[in-house]
Amino acid sequence: MMRLICALACAAAANAFGWGADGHSVIAEIAQRRLTSEARLEMERLLGPGVSLASLSSWADDVRPDRPETSNWHFINFPVKEDRYDPAVVCKATPTGDCIIGAMQRQRAILTCPSGDAKRREALKFAVHLIGDVHQPLHTITEERGGNLIRVDVDIRNGKCPRCPPRRTQENLHSVWDSVLISNKEWNWGAYVTRLEEGWLKAPEARGAEAGTVEDWMLASHRVAAQAWDWLPADKLVGDLYFTQVMPLIDKQLALGGVRLARFLNETLPTLLRRETCN
Ligand code: ADE
Ligand code: ZN
Ligand code: ZN
Repeated sequence: MMRLICALACAAAANAFGWGADGHSVIAEIAQRRLTSEARLEMERLLGPGVSLASLSSWADDVRPDRPETSNWHFINFPVKEDRYDPAVVCKATPTGDCIIGAMQRQRAILTCPSGDAKRREALKFAVHLIGDVHQPLHTITEERGGNLIRVDVDIRNGKCPRCPPRRTQENLHSVWDSVLISNKEWNWGAYVTRLEEGWLKAPEARGAEAGTVEDWMLASHRVAAQAWDWLPADKLVGDLYFTQVMPLIDKQLALGGVRLARFLNETLPTLLRRETCN
């Protein structure tokens, strides 16, 4: 029994770290399908043949407890209703790290500069994960630690079993966005990828969506958080209405994360800058 309680509690705690493993796998898989042959070759040289990006996309969350100096690399915190941030305040160096923007600048530098394979391998794993986290809107807002402190009741039917008695679970708003909505939509992340490939990623809206900088992507993600912030009803019930409202935003954020991660890797993996350009 104790083991069961721990298993449930620990899973809930792990979910507070980023998209859940499914969200990160969706983004990594969409990206891997879009790698150029040069980028793929370098990825295989660093990771070994046959290793998928999805398989290592949550590694950065796994090492977070052992590497507290990387803790703040997973998010950036400024108020949801503000559309600007001051990096000197929000991204300052602390014993638990600076912020996701600073962390991504460093991963880009490590990947494009002559850094040694072990460092580049690690930077690749951080980049695959952190570009995912940039696209989780609640990873960009201060309020209640990105919603981690907001208790909600979840009762999502998604068309299944409308006459079943209420089956409410308690969650926090952050993990609802990280994983609860995603797992209610599809049974597994492979099915999620297929649906996005046949839907949003084929739509005209997807064309050119990989443009911009990591900072642009973060600010757009922040605007998504602002858009959805008032949708949580006063009784804090995450039901079918909330699910139906938020799901299109999550689909789009996961698809954007995928095509943008592909662009980042296509630009950085095969590129080796001259040593003088690298500090
Ligand atoms: N910890 C503190 N703030 C956070 C946020 N916005 N997202 C994820 N983890 C956090
Ligand atoms: Zn994370
Ligand atoms: Zn999270």
